[in-house]
Amino acid sequence: MAVLVTGGAGYIGSHTAVVLHEAGRDVVVLDDLSNSSPAAVDALRALTRPDLPFVEADAADVDAVGRAIADHGVDEVVHFAAFKSVSGSIADPDGYHRNNVGSTVGVVEAMRHNGVSRMVFSSSCTVYGEPTDLPVTEDSPISASNPYGATKVACEELLAAEAEAGGLDVLLLRYFNPVGAHASGDLGEDPRGTPDNLVPYLMQVAVGRRESLSVFGDDYDTPDGSAIRDYIHVVDLAEGHLAALDALAADRGSRGCTAVNLGTGTGYSVLDVLAAAGRVIGRPVPHQVVGRRDGDIQRIWADPSLAADLLGWRAGRGLDEMLADHWRWQQRHPDGYAAR
Ligand code: NAD
Ligand code: WQD
Repeated sequence: MAVLVTGGAGYIGSHTAVVLHEAGRDVVVLDDLSNSSPAAVDALRALTRPDLPFVEADAADVDAVGRAIADHGVDEVVHFAAFKSVSGSIADPDGYHRNNVGSTVGVVEAMRHNGVSRMVFSSSCTVYGEPTDLPVTEDSPISASNPYGATKVACEELLAAEAEAGGLDVLLLRYFNPVGAHASGDLGEDPRGTPDNLVPYLMQVAVGRRESLSVFGDDYDTPDGSAIRDYIHVVDLAEGHLAALDALAADRGSRGCTAVNLGTGTGYSVLDVLAAAGRVIGRPVPHQVVGRRDGDIQRIWADPSLAADLLGWRAGRGLDEMLADHWRWQQRHPDGYAAR
């Protein structure tokens, strides 16, 4: 039996594929390489097995996903494949909807045609919008504040309805802010163009690809005025997927559709991250404070207790380790996987 990892050539999917392989799962990666590269697949194969099955296909293509399931004896699916840029979604809302919801429909249909019922879905803390109460639990109000977030809410609703209708058991994993890289420094995050996210941008400044990091706002209602997030090591996140698949396979209270936060429970400000990065890198990272970024929320961090109770999973790696691992990847691969 095997696990299908859609979007497995991407940042979180590739790290998860490694963790699943190391845990003894047979991994099949399906990706259309719309936001990743063959070099990422090569890096993944180097860390797992040279013949790791890779299917280049759109996850919305029911026949292609169905063939991948049938050809490899797939009995569980982790569905990462999606576009993830908030700014990209504001520029192209229908394209984001088509890809993110369409790929989820395609995967669900292909699973149903092939009698596969267990799915782990990549959701996001973005579904909470700007929380009124902290930390956020899985019962906190849902409110999408951009088209990308709306696609995650739509997918969650679709999957909940499919589970209700029968034949699908799904864990919706709501990730907080993933950071870091595989400890080898040979698998990591490789954004196309100018990075949207804090740590990839900061690391490109540190490695000399960009001049200075803009800190978006120092007038928030937080201790140092900069915004607070719950940063989580990508390998912790990957291990959360293994725990989720194990919980589904063992039917540990995971029948139907259940949302689970994957975060550390600790919030750090942008200035905390900059200070930690300066320590890890050994010199300060050039930066300047600018105005707030439109649509940004002020503060969010997770209550991760359901993940501990239901999945037996907790994040173990701290901020310095996340940054040290991200830095190792960036130093070893200053231009990412290059030549995309
Ligand atoms: P990523 O872009 O690195 O990986 C996504 C992968 O999916 C890419 O390799 C891309 O080529 C592929 N893909 C996209 N659409 C596809 C399609 N229709 N068919 C096949 N492949 C397709 O992104 P990531 O950071 O690894 O994110 C993975 C998942 O986690 C996404 O669903 C994202 O929305 C979600 N998520 C990410 C974050 C984050 O900050 N990185 C936070 C919360 C949730
Ligand atoms: C973190 C903090 C910025 C860049 C996004 C998505 C969310 C989820 C994770 C997928 C914020 C500040 C950033 C920079 C900065 N993705 N910042 N200078 O906004 O929490 O979440 O990624 O689901 O949906 O919205 O992450 O890394 O962009 O920002 O000061 O150049 O860093 O203002 O406070 P964010 P981020």
